[in-house]
Amino acid sequence: MNNLPIGIFDSGIGGLTVAKAVHDLLPNESLIYFGDTAHLPYGDKSPDLLKKYVIEIVDFLLQRQVKAIIIACNTASAVAYEYLKQNYLEVLFFEVIQPAVQEALKYTKNQRIGVIGTKTTIYSHVYLKKILDNLPSAFVVEKATPLLVPMIEEGWIHDKLSKEIIEAYLSDTGFTHIDTFILGCTHYPLIRSEVEQYFEKNSLQKIYVIDSSIALAKQVHEYFTLNNLLSNNVQPTLQFFLSDLTPSFQETANLFFGENINLEKWQSPL
Ligand code: DGL
Repeated sequence: MNNLPIGIFDSGIGGLTVAKAVHDLLPNESLIYFGDTAHLPYGDKSPDLLKKYVIEIVDFLLQRQVKAIIIACNTASAVAYEYLKQNYLEVLFFEVIQPAVQEALKYTKNQRIGVIGTKTTIYSHVYLKKILDNLPSAFVVEKATPLLVPMIEEGWIHDKLSKEIIEAYLSDTGFTHIDTFILGCTHYPLIRSEVEQYFEKNSLQKIYVIDSSIALAKQVHEYFTLNNLLSNNVQPTLQFFLSDLTPSFQETANLFFGENINLEKWQSPL
């Protein structure tokens, strides 16, 4: 059981930020990554449609006998985590929202927290609700930033155009007094340095930028340790499945893992 792989999924390359953090902290674990590139972006789809996609992916991963499933996508976590927990009682799920919220609550001093994410994540108000559940006096500024995912998937990350798009979103006056900022989409760690640079240049106070990948990897490590689920496999495998093969995914995956990653195509019936 312990040496079975962990399933990880996202709409595209965003979840690689999570897969990499898990791989770094738990190097003996085999991983099966699924990127639903045929249905990307998730962020402007309805919760009902996303649930259908997610159920298919979960069934695909379970057929490959994973020991746990990481929902490496904020949008899918926002709309489907509760459903999955209630309908797949025997499966161990991890999601990316709670670890980011915990991190934000630990850091904020003035209780003013900004969060950006896809439209579906932001309009679900999942971050707002989870923060207020723990800290009712907090002030949360939520902003949907829908251009960022297609921009990152295209590999437009460190150029003039991407800088301008990021600036246009972050210059929202709502963010003026925050001290903590959540990257509420697993694609966004890829532009983390641009976000930090923007705030360094334009904010009066220091802003702590959070992404959930490392916090989530720590949570998985802790859970596996406490429950004797850690793998001792000395030759763990990394497998990558996509519902549509894209060159930018290939480039990013190679870059992340420092080796030539073999991508396999999976045909979605939807
Ligand atoms: N990376 C995902 C997230 O965390 C999905 C982005 C998208 O496909 O729109 O929300």
